[in-house]
Amino acid sequence: MSSFRIAPSLLSANFACLGQEVETVIAAGADLIHFDVMDNHYVPNLTVGPLVCEAIKPHCGQTPIDVHLMVEPVDALAAQFAKAGAGLITFHPEASAHIDRTLSLIRDHGCRAGLVFNPTTPLHYLDYVMDKLDMVLLMSVNPGFGGQSFIPSTLGKLRQVRARLDAYYQETGRQIWLEVDGGVKIDNIAEIAAAGADTFVAGSAIFNTPDYAATIAAMRAQLATIA
Ligand code: DX5
Ligand code: ZN
Repeated sequence: MSSFRIAPSLLSANFACLGQEVETVIAAGADLIHFDVMDNHYVPNLTVGPLVCEAIKPHCGQTPIDVHLMVEPVDALAAQFAKAGAGLITFHPEASAHIDRTLSLIRDHGCRAGLVFNPTTPLHYLDYVMDKLDMVLLMSVNPGFGGQSFIPSTLGKLRQVRARLDAYYQETGRQIWLEVDGGVKIDNIAEIAAAGADTFVAGSAIFNTPDYAATIAAMRAQLATIA
C-alpha cells in the first residue's frame, strides 16, 4: 500500500483559495501536489508559473510539489521552478532540444527529474537516459485540460514501461517511479495500478468531490485490492 502515491492535480482546485486547497488535500492524504504548467504554445491552455509555485510552497509542509511542465522550451522555466520550491520536475521530451542536458539541469538544481510521454509519444526517449530519471510519467489523456476520459491504450504502455523499470531495478537496485496522469478515478485506479503505475495524478476525481479525504480513502481502498 505504502508504495502507491496519490498526487492530486491542482488544475481542478479552486484557484481563488489555492493555499487552503493545498492544505486541505494534504490533510486528506495527498502524497504529492501535482502542479500543471501550461504555456499556450506546447499545449492549448495557459495556467500558472513559478510565482504561484512559490506562493503555495509554505502551505505544502513536507509534501513535495510535482511540477508537470507542458512548456516549450523547457530549460529556463525548469530552473525557475526548482528555485520556486519544486520537489520533482517532469517535462515532455519533444519540447526540449537537449533532453539529457535538461534532465541534468533539473537534478543539478536539487530536484528529482522525469520525462512525460503523451499517448502517442514513443518510449525510445527512455533509451539513453535511465540513469538520469527519477520518474516516468505516462499521459492517459492528451495534455492541456482536466476532466478528460482515460485513454485505454495507456494500460498496454504502462505494462511496457513497468517491465523496463523492473529490469532496470534488477540491474541497478534503483527504483524509478511510474506515474499516470489523466482520467484517473476511483473506478479505474485498481486496473491502472495492476498495469504497473505506482503514482496516480487525479484532478477532477478529487477536487470535484465535496470530501477529498473520502475520495482519496476510496482510491486507496481500491489500490489495496491489488496490493
Ligand atoms: C492535463 C493535466 C492533468 C490534469 C488531470 O494536461 O496534466 O494533470 O489535471 O486532470 P483529470 O484528473 O481531471 O483528468
Ligand atoms: Zn499533469
